Amino acid sequence: MSTPVLQSRLPQVGTTVFTTMSNLASRHQAVNLGQGFPDFGCDPRLPALVTDAMAAGHNQYPMMTGVPALRAAVAAKIAALYGHAYDVDSEITITSGASQALMTAILCAVHPGDEVIVIEPAYDLYLPAIALAGGVAVPVAMEVAENGYSIAWARVAAAVSARTRMIVINSPHNPSGTILRRADLDALAAIVRGSEILILSDEVYEHMVFDGEAHESVCRHAELAARAFVVSSFGKTYHVTGWKVGYIAAPASLMAEYRKVHQYNVFTVNTPMQHAIAAYMNDPAPYLELPDFYQAKRDLFRAGLAGSRFTLLPADGTYFQCVRYDAISDMAEGEFARWLTVEAQVAAIPMSAFYRDGFESGIVRFCFAKQDPTLRLALERLARL
Ligand SMILES: Cc1ncc(COP(=O)(O)O)c(C=O)c1O
Repeated sequence: MSTPVLQSRLPQVGTTVFTTMSNLASRHQAVNLGQGFPDFGCDPRLPALVTDAMAAGHNQYPMMTGVPALRAAVAAKIAALYGHAYDVDSEITITSGASQALMTAILCAVHPGDEVIVIEPAYDLYLPAIALAGGVAVPVAMEVAENGYSIAWARVAAAVSARTRMIVINSPHNPSGTILRRADLDALAAIVRGSEILILSDEVYEHMVFDGEAHESVCRHAELAARAFVVSSFGKTYHVTGWKVGYIAAPASLMAEYRKVHQYNVFTVNTPMQHAIAAYMNDPAPYLELPDFYQAKRDLFRAGLAGSRFTLLPADGTYFQCVRYDAISDMAEGEFARWLTVEAQVAAIPMSAFYRDGFESGIVRFCFAKQDPTLRLALERLARL
């Protein structure tokens, strides 16, 4: 019997560098600072609340749009932090992590042949999602200089065409660790003003902005909020990446279209977790304290590398630290990351993995969402190089 040959929808996709580096890390007993997830547990109150929700009988399908108490908690949080009032019923949907929200938003908005501007380096989901929608990705590279990464908005403006349907932004930004500030949002607003271009704003690291700066959510910017899908993830905020619960917020007319796809894409998101997170959100302290928690880890990691031969790039947000390694090696990024994993026993991710054409800038990314002893062990090894 023969199996029919399936013509791939995503022929360019293979094993990701994240899987490759994690496998290599475990083979060589390397400290894995590659893939972005914490190696510590969540607040024990969270699993207890899930158990309570299950015991209380919250085990059947919830509403397609999400458990009302959780949508209300999300709306209240956004109103308190960013001053934008989303309607709980028509403008917020609970999703299976940010990934599903991003994929569904792209599928609902992008028609075959539509162009979507993506700022590179970029989180790896955007390009395959655009391809599945039949869209055409238009990558615009960030500028990378001595003082780090920034978006050259003139380049974004130059990439806009009559076919541009959407611009994807991500702040705080994975992998660069940069954040968008008010001037960036103003520049973006000037580009899209008067057009039909939508904004997809990936804000999963919204509660990881350091040095007392505020997260500039697109929700804060009325003009942009009127044309934006805003996405976030409880996985990042509450150290429960495996729960895969997030949300998307958008004006009612956009959300109505989003939900048409969402209901056949995932229909609902698991019920007990939604009840647990809704109850947990009554206390804002965990997300309000998150910047300090991660800033302490960032500072520990940066201090440990300060005397090393790595050059640190700014890290204003997220739990990633990018470094140049030209004082250590002239290897290409992928080769250097493999060498680092095998020889120094610390895994990192090459920045080239976040560019469609594998652009090389001599930079790798470390994740510092790790327990302090894990970070100290990695630092000991990196400082020797
Ligand atoms: C920028 C960015 N967006 C989205 C996601 C996906 O989030 P979730 O795990 O909630 O699907 C991640 C996860 O690493 C991310 O870094």
